[in-house]
Amino acid sequence: MKKVLSGIQPSGKLTLGNYIGAMKNFVKLQNDYACNFMVVDLHAITVAQEPAALREQSEAVAALFVAAGIDPDKSNVYMQSHVPPHSELGWILTTLTSMGELERMTQFKDKTAGKESVGAGLFVYPSLMAADILVYNADLVPVGEDQKQHLELTRDLAGRFNHRFGEYFTIPEPYIPEVGARIMSLDDASKKMSKSNPNPGSYIALLDTPDEIRKKISRATTDSGKEVRYDPAEKPEVSNLMSIYAECSGMSLEQIRDHFEGQMYGNFKKQLAEVVVSVLEPLQNRYHEIRNSGQLHDILAKGAANAMETASRTLTDVKERMGFLLPK
Ligand code: TYM
Repeated sequence: MKKVLSGIQPSGKLTLGNYIGAMKNFVKLQNDYACNFMVVDLHAITVAQEPAALREQSEAVAALFVAAGIDPDKSNVYMQSHVPPHSELGWILTTLTSMGELERMTQFKDKTAGKESVGAGLFVYPSLMAADILVYNADLVPVGEDQKQHLELTRDLAGRFNHRFGEYFTIPEPYIPEVGARIMSLDDASKKMSKSNPNPGSYIALLDTPDEIRKKISRATTDSGKEVRYDPAEKPEVSNLMSIYAECSGMSLEQIRDHFEGQMYGNFKKQLAEVVVSVLEPLQNRYHEIRNSGQLHDILAKGAANAMETASRTLTDVKERMGFLLPK
């Protein structure tokens, strides 16, 4: 069975962008692939985290995975830090990565723009992400558009290792949705919808109440026209709202355009809010059930134990190939 790996950082509230760009596809892929889905806490600490908040968010993201529909009997759900080979292979791959490659990463440039002091962890972050993927020899990596460049580096590192030490790593493919790969901010369609935006009106958090969702969508920026038409260059705001509509309703962009022909944006937004609520409300109910059930820690322990089997085998193989003296 082919393998899937992906991860989400527990560094703040998850947004509808995380759901549409990534989580929704995790659920879709779990029937046809052997899947590992992680809460990437080691990545989250590349920017300062408050300990109590990190702990709470880690548990919240794990519960959201399950609430979104990931079945822990089919897929492994776990914390990245519970599987130490990630860190060790991360270090090994860092030694195969050049400074130039890391300097070219647009996420690094964005996250450090204008900052005086930048942590070294943020710089080597992509090598750890490559380790996450390669430690399972994953075939497919479901992510949003913003992770594409990191995936390309992962492919390069896999190829470089294979070239130097003999064919070993699978070259992974990204799995990026066609419509929802980059959900934009509600207040500025030139920016990605992001949990780190200081304006909460710019994003829909997965745990926003139905009323908050309705309010945020009703206030979302639109253009001065009145045609519900998909045209990212001319109508970026409406196109973004249409992408959200399509991903939450299962309708195509053409169907949405036809459905709202001759109608005003106000009506479109009202129906959009209901479509989003119809996806998030049941997810939130399951989320609270899981958090109250006390089952989460067992799910995480089982997921980590399964993941550990493959990951530790890979690490030994890698070390052997590189010439490490292995313990007897
Ligand atoms: P993170 O935590 O920033 O985001 C998690 C996933 O959500 C996607 N995403 C979006 N998709 C569409 N529209 C948006 N506005 C949007 N915002 C976020 C991201 O593309 C991502 O798929 N480096 C990764 C975490 C990671 C990882 C991995 C992913 C660590 N190791 C191994 C895959 C494989 C990150 O920071 O994602």
